[in-house]
Amino acid sequence: MIKKTIVCATAFAFLAGFAVVSPVMASDAGPAEMTLQATVDAASKPKPAVFPHKKHQDTIKCAECHHGAADGKQVAYTEGMAIAKCESCHNKAAGLDKKISTFKNAAHAKCKGCHKAEKKGPTKCSGCHK
Ligand code: HEC
Ligand code: HEC
Ligand code: HEC
Ligand code: HEC
Repeated sequence: MIKKTIVCATAFAFLAGFAVVSPVMASDAGPAEMTLQATVDAASKPKPAVFPHKKHQDTIKCAECHHGAADGKQVAYTEGMAIAKCESCHNKAAGLDKKISTFKNAAHAKCKGCHKAEKKGPTKCSGCHK
């Protein structure tokens, strides 16, 4: 009983330590696997999308997906720049072109756009919205 408690406490300390350290170490590349979900202009029925970030990073440049903005225009990605959530800029209030006016629209343009163009990666709803 006592032994078990010690093991648990050690495991907890390890996990807690890891939880504090890992975001700092991994922050450069972001998470390997993501579930994307719009929050700002979310549809009434949530429709999370799976996104294997690491798998994409292995073959696609960061700049292909990430960019900044100034005066309502895109600013090209540069290494080490702060990466904001897509919907912090792609939201209805920002008034961007309809094709990219929400996280949903921007994501569909970017994600499906590339999959279609490259004839690789899912283009059917269920391929991303499991
Ligand atoms: C290549 C991946 C991909 C495909 C294919 C895709 N989507 Fe999406 N979709 C996304 C991403 C990424 C988002 C933004 C994150 C989220 O809210 O799921 C999104 C968002 C949405 C949203 C808004 C969800 C919300 O909670 O606000 C709807 C609705 C939606 N998609 C419907 C569809 C339908 C219908 C299809 C098929 C015709 C489809 N999607 C195909 C990736 C995809
Ligand atoms: C195929 C598209 C794509 C590529 C390539 C890509 N990313 Fe991402 N990345 C995304 C998406 C989508 C998100 C989620 C953004 C969101 O939540 O709004 C993301 C999130 C991130 C985050 C987390 C931001 C946060 O909110 O915590 C970091 C950091 C990041 N990416 C870094 C990189 C780096 C560095 C590279 C290149 C080595 C890269 N990404 C390549 C699409 C991509
Ligand atoms: C700092 C603000 C900002 C962030 C963060 C941002 N965008 Fe954008 N994005 C813009 C602006 C501004 C434009 C250009 C609008 C115009 O010229 O009409 C743009 C253009 C686009 C376009 C159309 C042009 C192109 O490159 O195909 C797509 C698609 C797009 N963004 C998707 C995304 C996705 C996906 C993410 C998250 C991974 C993201 N954006 C993050 C501001 C941002
Ligand atoms: C610049 C091109 C490009 C962009 C942008 C892109 N993808 Fe992909 N994606 C690919 C390619 C290429 C594959 C096929 C990889 C393979 O089969 O090895 C793929 C595969 C996938 C798969 C299937 C992975 C698997 O293990 O079978 C999913 C899910 C996916 N993408 C979701 C997304 C989502 C969501 C986004 C937008 C946030 C996105 N992709 C943006 C090129 C892209």
